[in-house]
Amino acid sequence: MSFTTLPKIGMGTFRLKGNDAREAVKSALSLGYRHIDTAQMYENEAEVGDGITSSGIPRRDIFLTTKIWHDKLHASDLINSLHDSLARLKTDHVDLTLIHWPSPGDEVPMEEYLGALRDARREGLTEHIGISNFTCAQMDQAKEILGDTPILTNQVEVHPFLANRKVVEHAQKLGITVTGYMPLAVGKVMEDETLQRIASERNVTPAQIAIAWVASRGVVPIPSSTRPSHQKANLEALKIQLSEDEIRAIDALDRGERIANPGFAPDWD
Ligand SMILES: NC(=O)c1ccc[n+]([C@@H]2O[C@H](COP(=O)([O-])OP(=O)(O)OC[C@H]3O[C@@H](n4cnc5c(N)ncnc54)[C@H](OP(=O)(O)O)[C@@H]3O)[C@@H](O)[C@H]2O)c1
Repeated sequence: MSFTTLPKIGMGTFRLKGNDAREAVKSALSLGYRHIDTAQMYENEAEVGDGITSSGIPRRDIFLTTKIWHDKLHASDLINSLHDSLARLKTDHVDLTLIHWPSPGDEVPMEEYLGALRDARREGLTEHIGISNFTCAQMDQAKEILGDTPILTNQVEVHPFLANRKVVEHAQKLGITVTGYMPLAVGKVMEDETLQRIASERNVTPAQIAIAWVASRGVVPIPSSTRPSHQKANLEALKIQLSEDEIRAIDALDRGERIANPGFAPDWD
């Protein structure tokens, strides 16, 4: 199967190492996830590959994403590092390759690394290409550089405490699907009173409400969990249809709280 769009939810793997990564991927696939998100920087591509192989689910049925770290953005480094990723993942191609962060301080010109990413697609190393942590201006620049080559997604932080409206709306206007990372604000959503109230009224959990809210905006959530019970609940959250009142109450939780904000991050919108 060749995927033309991103599956509606994915399993994140940041921080999952060794056997935890293997088991989490295997269990997610057995529960019905078909979209796995890893990155060179997570240092778990080999274990993610093991989890996929041992799941018994055919590789062609799984949408697999990896990301190029910002020290591999020169053209030859990018292609070589993607070959290394494929070897660790034990596959001949990924479904999506993302530029994990725009080059800090534009040290490597965007033309160079997006050109290399397009070459990787032409060579069949990746079915689709995309970007991550790109601002509105950087999305415009990327569109300009890539022309007819589609940018499948911009993967950015989205959760009830960081709605990231400007970036989400701009991406959607450009026809770029947004993938929302840290949709549970790394577990903080569980402590929020509004989310707790809505969740208890519906007999679900605040995590499920957060995922349903992300999905209601047309954003693809990629929560991570080591526990099969949480993975199952997160998958089932896609079935929740929030009311307009509930969405308004969750929208009001936006406080611009950014969790992933390293020193090399771009000037956020
Ligand atoms: N592109 C980027 O720069 C970037 C940056 C950060 C993250 N990401 C991607 O986004 C993914 C998600 O982000 P994240 O892993 O940092 O944070 P997250 O998904 O917001 O939160 C993960 C935390 O939530 C807990 N959790 C998961 N499901 C739960 C549930 N149903 N009920 C209660 N707690 C639950 C997990 O604990 P348990 O294990 O105990 O369930 C874990 O501690 C990453 O794994 C990665 O793939 C991308």
